[in-house]
Amino acid sequence: MKDQAEKLRDMVNNQKGLSRIIAVTSGKGGVGKTNIAVNLSLGLCQQGYRVALIDVDMGLANADIILGIAPKYNLGHVFRGERLLKDIIVEGPLGIKLIAGGSGVTDLANLTGWRLDVFIKSLEELNKEFDFIILDTGAGIHRNVLSFVLATHEILVVTTPEPTAVTDVYGLLKVLHQHKPEAKVRLVVNMVKNPNEAEMVAEKLNAVLKEFVQWEIDYAGYILYESQISKAVSDQQPVILAFPSSMASRSFKRLANTISGENAQSESTGIKVFFSKVYEFLHI
Ligand SMILES: Nc1ncnc2c1ncn2[C@@H]1O[C@H](COP(=O)(O)OP(=O)(O)OP(=O)(O)O)[C@@H](O)[C@H]1O
Ligand SMILES: [Mg+2]
Repeated sequence: MKDQAEKLRDMVNNQKGLSRIIAVTSGKGGVGKTNIAVNLSLGLCQQGYRVALIDVDMGLANADIILGIAPKYNLGHVFRGERLLKDIIVEGPLGIKLIAGGSGVTDLANLTGWRLDVFIKSLEELNKEFDFIILDTGAGIHRNVLSFVLATHEILVVTTPEPTAVTDVYGLLKVLHQHKPEAKVRLVVNMVKNPNEAEMVAEKLNAVLKEFVQWEIDYAGYILYESQISKAVSDQQPVILAFPSSMASRSFKRLANTISGENAQSESTGIKVFFSKVYEFLHI
């Protein structure tokens, strides 16, 4: 008989055995993407899923710091042929796997010939190994960030209720819609005082999107503002592990439930197609 984790895996993986890839991004920086990517990933691990977190934020890669682990190598080493993909994957709490990207990910654009072939081949293994691949990206609409976001079918867009963050997320969403209207985009409102505040942000944003872009996005939930998040970050521990019964941890668990509960599997094209697309975008 199949155990719970196996059943869940069957549900999330489609017949082709492709991982669900979800990019976490934002218009404005510092709105909580990395915290959300890390705690959402761990929330999915707690549900029995196999999760890889890829840090593709070239500016300030710091998912490793929040996870309290220190990877020696990043994707740059793989792209330069100095390490194999399997050698740079490090394990963190709850069995989560971290693939550090950092500034090295720009080297993807320079990959050619057999080195590109080797890399793409090694990605096949990842599809079999993981139910979810979560990407922690940078903020904004710079080409380096957009290449990763537009290559992903599922996009989690983060904002706070601050007018500047909402304005920037609207700008990002306009660009996403222009380039990828078929994307499954979900909104998370972070650092809110209460659920109402988050719902109002989501409603207002969708009202503007509807009027000016004829588009609406899904509201995936909120994360409350909580000082324990900063405390956990200072201690280099994810809040979901450091303060499991805190309100923030409950928000993250709810978000993980929402994400895993929705079935986006038929749309996943897998990690190989994903990286091929990133490669193409970087060359445009
Ligand atoms: N819900 C929250 N409550 C309180 N503080 C938070 C919350 N979410 C994030 N923070 C704090 O906000 C700061 C920025 O968070 P984080 O690094 O996750 O943002 P980011 O969007 O990844 O930033 P960057 O754009 O620089 O990558 C951190 O110091 C973090 O502790
Ligand atoms: Mg970040």
